[in-house]
Amino acid sequence: MTWIDLGNPFPREEWEQYDLFQWETGQVQRLPVGSLGASPALFDVLQQRRTSRQFGPLGDAELADFFWHACRSLETWPSDLGFELEHRSAPSAGAIHPIHLVINRPGDARWWLYEPRGHLLIELPSASGLLSGLLAHSREVLDAPEATELLFLAEPGKTMSKYADGCSLIWRDTGALLGVMALAAQGLGLSFCPLGITGEPWASSLAKQRQLVGVGLALLGSASPTASR
Ligand SMILES: Cc1cc2nc3c(=O)[nH]c(=O)nc-3n(C[C@H](O)[C@H](O)[C@H](O)COP(=O)(O)O)c2cc1C
Repeated sequence: MTWIDLGNPFPREEWEQYDLFQWETGQVQRLPVGSLGASPALFDVLQQRRTSRQFGPLGDAELADFFWHACRSLETWPSDLGFELEHRSAPSAGAIHPIHLVINRPGDARWWLYEPRGHLLIELPSASGLLSGLLAHSREVLDAPEATELLFLAEPGKTMSKYADGCSLIWRDTGALLGVMALAAQGLGLSFCPLGITGEPWASSLAKQRQLVGVGLALLGSASPTASR
């Protein structure tokens, strides 16, 4: 067995200023506010959560609900790192939240960035070409043509600006986010399945100089009537 030692993260004595990645953007799609209807009790959701590999099509309102509860930014405040820190449903080392979500919906070649502060989707015009191989790769792992693909795209420089040897924090942030998303999907009655593939080598082609790196994928859809474990 080969265990890759990612080092022992430690806050730097002097934080480094980080310049955020500048996205090349296209259309913007505002998402509706999440529904605040009756929700199942947390402990029931914890008991019931299951990975589902059967996906029906997801409406925009359901997608918006999912992002609203699992991913949106709840509070922001200034920092000396060159970007704002945030509070969201998922914990993140240093409140840095270095994982972006880039999504592809069935029947649409475009990929969209979820913007957690504005609760909106931003089209990434160059991504459809750069990530088409990733879609095919994902379907080799789990063929789910009706599922929405969620790419976890890390911007490690955010975390590294505060922590030396911070690589493992990125992976742990990804896991924390995955757990919250799985519970949110269960609570909303949606199908959710993480994928073990990272999204590489396609994901990092979205930025020059490896400013972005793929750290996982997940599939999301409505609960299919034929869903089974
Ligand atoms: C990091 C991670 C990667 C996973 N990768 C895959 C995958 O590639 N394909 C798949 O069908 N399920 C994948 N799963 C789902 C697991 O197989 C699933 O969680 C496991 O079978 C336990 O089932 P449960 O989630 O219903 O408890 C993954 C789960 C995690 C947390």
